[in-house]
Amino acid sequence: MTTRSHPKGLYLLFVTEMWERFSYYGMRAIFVLFMIKALMFDKAHAADIYGTYTGLVYLTPLVGGYIADRYWGNRRSILVGGVMMAIGQFMLFLSGNLHNTDVQSATWFLYGGLGMLIAGNGLFKPNISSMVGQLYEPGDKRVDSAFTIFYMGINTGSLMAPLICGTLGDTGHPDDFKWGFLAAGFGMLLSLAVFSLFKNKYLVTPQGAPIGMAPKRVHESGEKVVHAPLTRIEKERLAVILIVSAFVIFFWSAFEQAGASLTFFAEEQTNRNLLGFTVPASYFQSLNPISVVIFAPIFAMIWTALGRKGMEPSSPAKMAFGLLFLSIGYLVIAFGVDGLQPGVKVSMLWLVSLYVLHTFGELCLSPIGLSLVVKLSPARFTGLMMGVWFLSTAAANKFAGTLSELYPEAGKAAPQLLGYTINNLHDFFMVFVFMAGAASLVLFLLSSQLKKMTHGLQ
Ligand code: PHE
Repeated sequence: MTTRSHPKGLYLLFVTEMWERFSYYGMRAIFVLFMIKALMFDKAHAADIYGTYTGLVYLTPLVGGYIADRYWGNRRSILVGGVMMAIGQFMLFLSGNLHNTDVQSATWFLYGGLGMLIAGNGLFKPNISSMVGQLYEPGDKRVDSAFTIFYMGINTGSLMAPLICGTLGDTGHPDDFKWGFLAAGFGMLLSLAVFSLFKNKYLVTPQGAPIGMAPKRVHESGEKVVHAPLTRIEKERLAVILIVSAFVIFFWSAFEQAGASLTFFAEEQTNRNLLGFTVPASYFQSLNPISVVIFAPIFAMIWTALGRKGMEPSSPAKMAFGLLFLSIGYLVIAFGVDGLQPGVKVSMLWLVSLYVLHTFGELCLSPIGLSLVVKLSPARFTGLMMGVWFLSTAAANKFAGTLSELYPEAGKAAPQLLGYTINNLHDFFMVFVFMAGAASLVLFLLSSQLKKMTHGLQ
């Protein structure tokens, strides 16, 4: 009988990624406020830098993945990336120290720090995800549930980050931002320390061979190793990754309304009184990580239980369910705001339902997608393909901003999208119902063909 428990290496990667995400989201929680309140940037300039930063952060994994595949292997890329990110956070700490004595140096430390974070993340993020899959034999049914558990680590870090870095840094006194960045830097050091200490012991294949080492460039005989050309089966598997990555753009661009249009909605059109206390609009951002931490183990159990009965949906079908949950989330809120007069506020329960449904969607799509990338990539391309997966997130985030400009505002001409006029909030939310719904339907229809193209590895 095979044992169903997961290898210890999974928990090492869980903790390493948890502290890295703590560092990433901790900095992000105070970043815009720091630029506006300490460095005195105007809002548009700060928003511009923020958008460029978050966009670039998911562009560099393409390079980081390639470097790992070709030269360094996952382990070394993670270590170098992690050190760069820690340096980046400490540079922001210095910027926070200098903001009122030497603005010019403070600004240079800001840009230098951001550059280090962008490059470091490129080396770290795709490679930590790649290693999760390598802990298992090809074809092992536990891989989807492993990535779902790993995703819980990501979100445990994201959840703690604003609480700790926000509390330390966002005190109302601009001199305190630096403590938030310092905490983010220490989080990164903790991630590195845990990874360095335990990697040799736990990051091994089921047979005990180390994983994430640099690719062999020279045979023992001294002859150069040449990367074999792709076979037809490998090409079809890579095509599946590219096709699902394209669908993922629709998912994240609707999902990421959270930071933009849905936050306006929370601020302006949601009754946020709870037992005499006004819930800040920003608190709605934590509904997603909290729901991931609560529901991820349940989803992991569902996949394992279905797998045991031989009834587990294929990965493309799970991802189509993800898009469907997203569409239903928007349908619920579109119903909630239907016929709403301007200036009238609706219950918080609408947004809470939307975020919980969106989290269900995320759990069907995001960890499953990471898992699919690892399963389908020939080992010599895993890092690069992981980079492609993150690239679609980068594109989607940009697109999310464009779509959120369609948010209807009183006194502004009704925005248009492909001949559809957005007169009110109901019409706005329906854009996402249709977009995610149509993508879900097409992906469902394609899923059996895609499953065939995976040649048994979905
Ligand atoms: N919470 C996820 C993470 O930080 C968000 C994300 C999803 C980021 C997909 C990139 C790609 O990993």
